[in-house]
Amino acid sequence: MKKKVILDVDTGIDDALGILLAVRSGEMDVLGITTVNGNVSLEQATKNTCKILQLLEKEHEIRVIQGANKPLMRPTFFEHRVHGKDGLGGALLDMPVHVEAADGHAVDFIVEQVKQHAGEVTLVMTAPLTNLALAVMKYPELVHQVKEVIVMGGVVQGFGNVTPTAEFNMYVDPEAAKIVFQAGFPDLTLVGLDVTRKALLTDDHIRALGDSPIARYVKESTAEYMERYYERNGVRACALHDPLAVGVALNKQLVTTRKYYVDVETKSELCDGQTVCDFQNRLSKAANVHVCTEVAADEFLELFIRTLRA
Ligand code: RIB
Ligand code: CA
Repeated sequence: MKKKVILDVDTGIDDALGILLAVRSGEMDVLGITTVNGNVSLEQATKNTCKILQLLEKEHEIRVIQGANKPLMRPTFFEHRVHGKDGLGGALLDMPVHVEAADGHAVDFIVEQVKQHAGEVTLVMTAPLTNLALAVMKYPELVHQVKEVIVMGGVVQGFGNVTPTAEFNMYVDPEAAKIVFQAGFPDLTLVGLDVTRKALLTDDHIRALGDSPIARYVKESTAEYMERYYERNGVRACALHDPLAVGVALNKQLVTTRKYYVDVETKSELCDGQTVCDFQNRLSKAANVHVCTEVAADEFLELFIRTLRA
């Protein structure tokens, strides 16, 4: 039986790599891909997601459903410096998009699918959590009918990638993240920068992909990203943030987790979007999040390359 999943994306470069991994794995029944504003606008994220499905030749099998076009309470905050204005690092610019997003809203799609497949759906969230927060507010029972939620976001022991304390997905919509973390999901796993920064795709890995339309796409879409990453971090690589969240959905053994109480800062001048992890249970609150503390990075990279290789 394939694992029933919904991918929630703000397709950007690494979301696209996560979609490639999910679909090419052959182990996921992707019920749908919901889009949200984040790296780029909702419209651009949706267009990019359709392009990636066309690259996979799955555009007629997997539907794309649009969600929120802005955070719950804050203005949009795009990340064009990292993903380019188009969101795919300039790759597939001349690819015509011949499919459109499905009718309806992502929030209703998530609720409907979770109701229809109670206890079976894994939500893989690789974007700001606006859609899931809206879904929880609209249908609180969702919390008990979802199988599990895997969130790429946050950082609990390192520095942020937008501000000194905040990771992008949390920073864009901290109110949404707080709602999701406080909703009471029994099985919520946080795949934060603490582990995704160890899942680094290098030029050697790309060479190992061989020569295929997907391999050429991966090379083209990550080229600029790797340059930016080198400037910022001194290593030429593409951090596989979102693909690792998909990897965890495929195989939880790839990471070590520990359950802690985690909350999100929403009222701070310097720390909005910070995922605050109560390692010593100072607040005496029930642990709500399985925090990823370690990752078998080499094993994950092998899985990624093996799955995408021609
Ligand atoms: O911080 C990395 C996350 O923010 C990834 O999901 C990336 O796509 C951006 O959305
Ligand atoms: Ca993303």
